[in-house]
Amino acid sequence: MSLPDPSSTRGAISALRSLTGWWEDAGITVDLPPATPAALRRSAPVAGATERKARPAPPVVKPAPAAPEKPAQDAAVLARAAHDVAALKAAVESFDGCDLKRTARNTVFARGNPAAPLMVIGEGPGQDEDREGLPFVGRSGQLLDRMLAAIGLDETSAYITNVVFWRPPGNRKPSSEEIEICRPFVERHIALAKPRLILLAGGISTQAMLKTSNGIMGLRGHWSQITIEGHCAPALPTFHPAFLLRRPQEKAKAWADLLSLQEKLEELS
Ligand code: URA
Repeated sequence: MSLPDPSSTRGAISALRSLTGWWEDAGITVDLPPATPAALRRSAPVAGATERKARPAPPVVKPAPAAPEKPAQDAAVLARAAHDVAALKAAVESFDGCDLKRTARNTVFARGNPAAPLMVIGEGPGQDEDREGLPFVGRSGQLLDRMLAAIGLDETSAYITNVVFWRPPGNRKPSSEEIEICRPFVERHIALAKPRLILLAGGISTQAMLKTSNGIMGLRGHWSQITIEGHCAPALPTFHPAFLLRRPQEKAKAWADLLSLQEKLEELS
């Protein structure tokens, strides 16, 4: 995997271009900060320029919501029987226990490289994803790609999926029952792909994967650990790109999260 060298001026400049590009697309004019990543980290208008970084509240571990037992058990049996990512994809496609499938056009499993060091987990497919059968291909997916590109990642170095595999009708949020039914597949997905790091995009996937009811505002930017079938991966919650499209003023915090992700990836590689 090749990440831009944050200590080189070229790396800093290319990261800066990506950053200011995705801000400026959103109509924000940016005063360029100094050109080294260390200076960037110090000077970016990260929570901290005008406000103190919120401490995350201690995680509240939710009791797992009651998943309808039969479909969740069926999903667990199918998931366990899958011994590689391709078999898991086939298992998800064959599964009829989640009602979301009735109204969806396609099963949306994943895109990118299953052997990549980074796994991104989002909320669930929208209209574009449902049409194409691939996650994060609409507007928020384009922003996600640009965010990853800003730290030197692309489809060869990232693997992108969701906590549910079918589009919730009308783009509503997936319910906790739907998430629990899909959970055995999502967890098996992590166990099989064995990502070194996990980026949790948005509150829904953060709450689902960290089993917490705390909000994304307090959790973003703070590393947790996800352990599944003995595989341990540091996990970083960040804002969902759809939220950033609505609230571009929050992009500075997302940029701080991306820098933290980049640093951790470098540490682990
Ligand atoms: N939002 C998500 O969370 N996932 C997608 O695949 C698309 C939009």
